[in-house]
Parts: sequence; structure tokens; C-alpha cells
Amino acid sequence: MASPALENILDHYRNPRNYGELENADIRVKDSNPLCGDVVEMQIKVVDGVVKDIRFRGKGCAISQASASMLTERVRGMRLGDVKDIDRQQIIEMLGIELSPVRLKCAMLSLKVLKMGVYTYLGEKLREKDED
Ligand code: FES
Repeated sequence: MASPALENILDHYRNPRNYGELENADIRVKDSNPLCGDVVEMQIKVVDGVVKDIRFRGKGCAISQASASMLTERVRGMRLGDVKDIDRQQIIEMLGIELSPVRLKCAMLSLKVLKMGVYTYLGEKLREKDED
């Protein structure tokens, strides 16, 4: 029998939450794991600095896709400033299994994509303010 954490990962992999296309997304960002080419794309609707809605799409191993699925559940309703603070340890705890260095890269792909999107979005907001 697989551990509950592993069962949970497989469940997210087979039935990804918040999967698909988000119309009118304010953040749209995509990246791949250079080691294997697996891809995660995040789309976020932002209202008053909060993740109002989020969807992801992707292609890849169970860990990368399950991690993306779990992450979308975690960050919905969160302030973008708090999303920036999510760290590697939180992702490891979210998955709940031991990860080899290679698997760690799989686990972190979705967080990398998410943060890229959030930082770019916040940077743009900052620039817009400067121009006012
Ligand atoms: Fe590609 Fe896991 S093997 S992200």
C-alpha cells in the first residue's frame, strides 16, 4: 500500500484541481524544467492584490503536476505578497514525501513559475505607479 501522502500526490496527478484555461487572467506565465522539458503554466486573476482565481496547465511527471495542482489550491485567496513568501520547505511539506535532488526540481517547478508570474506582475504594477 502506498503512503497517504503518495496516494494524495497520485490523486492530484490523475484528477488535477484547477486545471484548464482562465479567461481574462492578469498573470499568465509558463516555464519548463530544463532537465526534462516538463511544463507548467499558471494563469491568475488578481483582484485588490489577492489571487481571486487560478488555473494551471501542464505536462509532466506526477510530482510536478501534483505539486502544481496542490499549489493552486493553496494560493487561492492569498495576497500576492504572501505568495512571494512560499518557500521550498513549504512545498516539501505540502507533498509530504522524501524527495531526491532530481525530484525536488520536479516539485519546485510550479512554485518557480508562480513566483515568476507574481514578481513580474508586481514589478509592472510598480512601474505603472511610477508613471502616474
Ligand atoms: Fe520532469 Fe519531473 S521529470 S518535472
